[in-house]
Amino acid sequence: MDQAWGLQQMFSAVVGRGEPPLPTHQASSLLTAATPSRRRCRAITVAGGKGGVGKSTVAVNLGMSLSMAGHDVMLLDADMGLANVDVLLGLAPSRHIGHLLDGHCALVDLLLAAPHGLRVIPAGSGARRLAQLGSAEHAAIIRAFDELAQPPKYLLVDTAAGLSDSVAMFAAAADDVVLVVCDEPASITDAYALIKVLSRDFAVRRFRMVANMVRNEGEARQLHHKLSRVSDRFLDVVIEFSGWVPHDERLRQAIRQQSAVVDLWPSSRSALAFKQLAGAVDRWEEPERAGLDRIAFFGGRVTAAAGD
Ligand SMILES: Nc1ncnc2c1ncn2[C@@H]1O[C@H](COP(=O)(O)OP(=O)(O)OP(=O)(O)O)[C@@H](O)[C@H]1O
Ligand SMILES: [Mg+2]
Repeated sequence: MDQAWGLQQMFSAVVGRGEPPLPTHQASSLLTAATPSRRRCRAITVAGGKGGVGKSTVAVNLGMSLSMAGHDVMLLDADMGLANVDVLLGLAPSRHIGHLLDGHCALVDLLLAAPHGLRVIPAGSGARRLAQLGSAEHAAIIRAFDELAQPPKYLLVDTAAGLSDSVAMFAAAADDVVLVVCDEPASITDAYALIKVLSRDFAVRRFRMVANMVRNEGEARQLHHKLSRVSDRFLDVVIEFSGWVPHDERLRQAIRQQSAVVDLWPSSRSALAFKQLAGAVDRWEEPERAGLDRIAFFGGRVTAAAGD
């Protein structure tokens, strides 16, 4: 209940109100009313629980594959304080989310151009403050997205390892949560722990699993089976198998060259897998809240959790 109350507080901040929190239905209609008719954005948070499983790699290459397919895509690096995405893409940001929070710039001023039209919002590296953002700061980031005059078609969010509030909030806020899992016991147990927290405290019921660094589809499906077997038994969630990316030396080479493999070697095995994944993402059914004509950040699930 504390969690729900905290979310309600944050929600109030998003609509520009202080305490006390608004009744759920009132907050929800205020937020909808505050955002005039705009193009629909699909927010996809990439998480995984364990470090080093390929979250940033998937976020970057899936994001770029979607923009190569002609979509308008933004990628938010929400690994605040460690900043992976700009390093992976060889970008040199002069400003980051911290400047936005300090009121020194707007969200559009942070956008960095990556190849193929992908736009990146960098996280800022080495700033302890960024690694410890509170609810109000998250709310300010969300409000900045809600105020974008031209929301992208896809907003991908790369998250940090672990089960921090930040990861949970960005996952709860999104239309879809992509879980990156690899074939290591700790990856499965950490993904399970994340699913447990997100379903129990944040009312996230559906997850889309992407197996990374596997040898073939059979291995990927086995991994999905392992994760969904325990989750189906103990948690009220659905874990969909959404695709797989092979272990690929080309991908590592691309990382060393600070480029996306889909850009550098579009015919490599991993690049083809990302292309296939992007095609699948584009065929996903409309998100549940498709009726809301606004960027979906922190919409329905926050109110759902607050109403528990
Ligand atoms: N499909 C792949 N094939 C080969 N190597 C890979 C693949 N995916 C990821 N890697 C390797 O794993 C490393 C970690 O990947 P990445 O930084 O994307 O993980 P992460 O989950 O974002 O980590 P962190 O939790 O530290 O942010 C990469 O630097 C790369 O060397
Ligand atoms: Mg990362």
